[in-house]
Amino acid sequence: MQQQLTNRRVLLGVTGGIAAYKSAELVRRLKELGAEVRVMMTPAATEFVSPLTFQALSGNPVHSQLLDPQAEAGMGHIELARWADLILVAPASADSIARLAHGRADDLFTAVCLASDAVRAMAPAMNRLMWANPATRDNVALLADRGWAVWGPGEGDQACGEIGPGRMLEPLDIAARAAQLFETGLLAGQRLLITAGPTREALDPVRFLSNHSSGKMGFALAREAASAGARVTLISGPVHLPTPDRVTRIDVVSAAEMRDAVLDHVRDCDVFIATAAVVDYRPAQAAAHKIKKHQETLSLELVRNPDILAEVAALAEAPFSVGFAAETDDVAHYAKVKLNAKNLNMIAANRVGGVDSAFDGDDNALQVFWPGGDASISRSSKHSVARQLLELIAQRLRDRD
Ligand code: PMT
Repeated sequence: MQQQLTNRRVLLGVTGGIAAYKSAELVRRLKELGAEVRVMMTPAATEFVSPLTFQALSGNPVHSQLLDPQAEAGMGHIELARWADLILVAPASADSIARLAHGRADDLFTAVCLASDAVRAMAPAMNRLMWANPATRDNVALLADRGWAVWGPGEGDQACGEIGPGRMLEPLDIAARAAQLFETGLLAGQRLLITAGPTREALDPVRFLSNHSSGKMGFALAREAASAGARVTLISGPVHLPTPDRVTRIDVVSAAEMRDAVLDHVRDCDVFIATAAVVDYRPAQAAAHKIKKHQETLSLELVRNPDILAEVAALAEAPFSVGFAAETDDVAHYAKVKLNAKNLNMIAANRVGGVDSAFDGDDNALQVFWPGGDASISRSSKHSVARQLLELIAQRLRDRD
């Protein structure tokens, strides 16, 4: 089975309805597709199915209380909202739909939905007359307008004995639609070249200069760009990450190798995204043999590495060039300086060092600048951040045409 939801974090919202029993199977289906699943339940939902069932199936504690100090100390509602790539409400009862439409935030379920910029989908389930009621229709239309995907309901026998539309779609169908949600086609036909990870600059055959980049941000961009329909080539420094599906990967070690690989492929790309943390200086000469520790101090002579991004952006037929800026202070200021100095189409700035450093963790937040505009992407998974950055890039490409 294709693991289309690998690395996707799905937060399943189970609301009060008899179809809640089917959501137990939905957890299994989502996990079969590779998703990491957490479950939040409304109090009414816990009357239908025990939270223990969802805890056992998802492998994670179930979230149901907004004002539970213990739960909030573990993963509070804001962290939960940030954690999710997809909030999937199944079953979505008439009442939960009404509460979401009105922006309520007086329980965990509604507060999390309100505080998240994750992709959102719902599978309604209710009595056919409740579904047909204009109040429900209006609420659903409003949420669809705000970007919620609405799946179903299906038609048939209902638990209440009636026949008609209102049945929750089958778990297999919902899980397949969840996987499809990320296949946006937003970058269809575009060719992307992305650098990722650190470089290593050899001091001798056993030692090198490098940095803390894990490659996660660049690999998330590659994965999301492929899902958005782009043809993606990923040039990566040494990292421990699997190659995303439908991505061509080229492994390099040093900045010089990364530069050569980029220059070999840049003419075949429409967009270049430089996520790699290229080491700025390399030893003037790498020792041929292991350096011995005879002396108390050791001085190294370093020379500057070529700036790959600046070189690409200066090409006569440069692709749409996006840089990253990793800064410890004055993040926005230095990012704007780099945007201008390197003549870029866009730069994404993130903070490194200290708590919430962009290096290595699974989450990130970006300030994005382009000539004449800017946007903020709030802290969430690197995959969600990548998706939002690619949306900005697609928008700029459209504006340029
Ligand atoms: O890999 P992760 O652990 O997920 O961490 C992600 C990240 C922090 C590495 C990433 O989000 C990030 O910020 N990457 C850029 C790191 C960096 O080198 O920033 P910089 O401000 O020093 O460089 C500015 C830009 O020039 C970058 O796009 C960089 O790729 C590029 N550059 C820099 C030097 C050089 N010699 N050649 C370059 O192309």
